[in-house]
Amino acid sequence: MDVSTAVDRRSSIRAFLDTPVSNEAIADLLTKAARAPSGGNVQPWRIYVVNGDSMVRFREAIASRDIEEPAYEVYPSGLKEPYKTARFDLGMQMYDKLGIARDDKAGRFGQMLKNYEFFGAPASIFCFVDRQMGPPQWSDLGMFLQTFMLLAQEAGLDTCPQEAWAMWEGAISEFVGAPEDERLFCGVAIGHADPDEPVNSLRSERFPLDKFATFV
Ligand SMILES: Cc1cc2nc3c(=O)[nH]c(=O)nc-3n(C[C@H](O)[C@H](O)[C@H](O)COP(=O)(O)O)c2cc1C
Repeated sequence: MDVSTAVDRRSSIRAFLDTPVSNEAIADLLTKAARAPSGGNVQPWRIYVVNGDSMVRFREAIASRDIEEPAYEVYPSGLKEPYKTARFDLGMQMYDKLGIARDDKAGRFGQMLKNYEFFGAPASIFCFVDRQMGPPQWSDLGMFLQTFMLLAQEAGLDTCPQEAWAMWEGAISEFVGAPEDERLFCGVAIGHADPDEPVNSLRSERFPLDKFATFV
């Protein structure tokens, strides 16, 4: 698979089959993804794999915990245009695919909760970063994660990055054994997309080139 195809085919999958993914496959993706660049080559990503037995234990552990204060502000309060509309449109397009009506708050809440089951994915990674690190290193995490997700495409695996886990930082840190000086950025669900679930056919929109790029 060439890079353009992997970039085009990757999408956030929100309904997975229970087909298992081996730790060896995830280790291979992580090893390759670590070729991602980072400022000063500090390689700030700290990854915890939850899969197989540990996924069974994780699901039990999280079920007994209460939701927490978010680890960070996922979106700025008062999100400006055009970002606000882009976010709103994505939500509406997703709920349309799921057959959830605009005024069905319970349905929307139920869909949000599926984040906390990794949308049925059998495997996952959690991405942490040292608390000392700032925006430049957080951007390095993004490079690592996108590289990981593209390599997953090449390997026939699907993914969904999930900031939703920011609501469980304490419980996750405890479960994975992350030290005090590491903080959670996000989880990534990993598995095989369920081809029969309409939500997986969502092709999210993008701003046209002239809206985000200026040729000076
Ligand atoms: C860092 C990051 C965190 C995300 N967190 C969530 C999440 O918690 N739940 C979710 O359903 N989608 C999440 N997404 C997926 C985005 O909604 C998705 O990437 C965006 O709508 C573009 O769609 P695409 O990934 O299918 O191209 C996240 C994406 C990124 C990059």
